[in-house]
Amino acid sequence: MKIFKDYYNNTVTFSFSDHPFSKEPKHVLVITRIGNQWLLTHHKTRGLEFPGGKVEKGETAMEAAIREVKEETGGDVDHLIYLGQYYVDGKADQIVKNVYLADVAQLIGQDTYYETHGPVLVNCLPKELKTDERYSFIMKDEVVALAIKWIEEKKL
Ligand code: GTP
Repeated sequence: MKIFKDYYNNTVTFSFSDHPFSKEPKHVLVITRIGNQWLLTHHKTRGLEFPGGKVEKGETAMEAAIREVKEETGGDVDHLIYLGQYYVDGKADQIVKNVYLADVAQLIGQDTYYETHGPVLVNCLPKELKTDERYSFIMKDEVVALAIKWIEEKKL
């Protein structure tokens, strides 16, 4: 378990083990690749972030991950693997979020990207992500850095 504070000073607990906090998490974050580029979405209020969101009624977390990538980027997920799970102890809410790695085969233009401006491809994430105003708070805690390090170490 890794414990740290996020951008809003909430305590986040992250683990690479199999669903340590909930078997039915209500949120997903999808570290998404297309070829050797990262596929982000430009959220209208939060800025650049990996796709993700809430699990809908009747949906599994994996189904939500595939849907969110499609809705927010137009990407068709080819391959999806579970990486880990985190718990955010927020002031008003506590949330549990699954983190996945997705490989996207192709991007199909969409009429709407919902609450985002759609896909953004980057070769690498900035070193100074925490102070980069273009990026969402979701990208600014240890979760993304740990997940990317894990992907590199395990050669996923
Ligand atoms: P909507 O209902 O979509 O408006 O969402 P919300 O902003 O009310 O919050 P949500 O239920 O998605 O999350 C509740 C709180 O948890 C947010 O205000 C954030 O502080 C925190 N949170 C959500 N997702 C993350 C995340 O990926 N990382 C971190 N560190 N905090 C998160």
